[in-house]
Amino acid sequence: MEREPEKLDLLDISPGLEEFREDLLEGLRQPQKQVSSKYLYDQRGSVLFDRICEVDEYYPTRTESQIMRDNADQMADAIGPESMIVEYGSGSSIKTHILLDCLDQPRAYVPIDICRDHLMQSSARIADAYPDLEVLSLCADFTAKLELPEPQSAVGRRVVFFPGSTIGNLTQETAEVCLTNMRENCGDDGGVLIGVDLEKDTDILRAAYNDAAGVTAAFNLNLLERINRELDADFDLDVFDHQAVFNAERTRMEMHLRSLANQTVRVGDETVSFAKGETIHTENSHKYSLDRFRAMAANASLSVKKVWTDEKKLFSVQYLRAS
Ligand code: AVI
Repeated sequence: MEREPEKLDLLDISPGLEEFREDLLEGLRQPQKQVSSKYLYDQRGSVLFDRICEVDEYYPTRTESQIMRDNADQMADAIGPESMIVEYGSGSSIKTHILLDCLDQPRAYVPIDICRDHLMQSSARIADAYPDLEVLSLCADFTAKLELPEPQSAVGRRVVFFPGSTIGNLTQETAEVCLTNMRENCGDDGGVLIGVDLEKDTDILRAAYNDAAGVTAAFNLNLLERINRELDADFDLDVFDHQAVFNAERTRMEMHLRSLANQTVRVGDETVSFAKGETIHTENSHKYSLDRFRAMAANASLSVKKVWTDEKKLFSVQYLRAS
């Protein structure tokens, strides 16, 4: 199918190499070494994350997709006709199809993702599948305050779609700022359709982040490969391993890369020392109770209008409106 060029637009404001280098070195100088989880998503990281979504132990993706399929009509009713959907952390946009298929004449779609290649591929697929939809892609870190591209056509309600419980990868403080930005971007009549992973038995959580096939381990270790390639570093991937632990005090899963020996690593012109057993903290994945999430949304002037969950209450999809 021929696509009109103006229906598929890309704006790239993602972090550059210098920002990556500065962020990384600053994080590696902290007493608890850390790297922002946004850097897990280069092209290979994004592909590995898609594979994680298919492993048996990783319940969030299939549970959320099923919740969406089961309740798509109610979600479409809540959003209303001729909407503009803004998807934060769109990745492969797999769940987007479930949403777009049930909406009444959606007018515009703005996918936002930090991985440019992944974003372009999935935007092109969406533009092909929905020829009447204006697709305005934005390559950016969605935790930053963003100015959204304006569609050419008149649109109804502006709704942020933020699936996958990616909100859980943010600290509570950043999550609140992010929700506040969404509220501002969508205006007084806007909405937010968001996936939120729920508190549960910790054995289920530990298994989900330590899958037997080692896909999550490969996803985590890929960060070191990316650093080696892009920032001229010499991390030896055989001397680090993947660690995923539950932090009960903060109700979150944490991913770390643990040094298996005392070692010194070069990053460009700088060196970083690791003691045996020392870790780089690479990701948080917060799990919420419905009450705790409602309180957080309220701090961002958003009120929870509807909550859909699965039978086992593993995961929730929630519709919020400006309050
Ligand atoms: C993208 N995000 C919601 C995933 C999560 O569960 O925190 C990333 C992930 N990390 C390890 N497995 C999946």
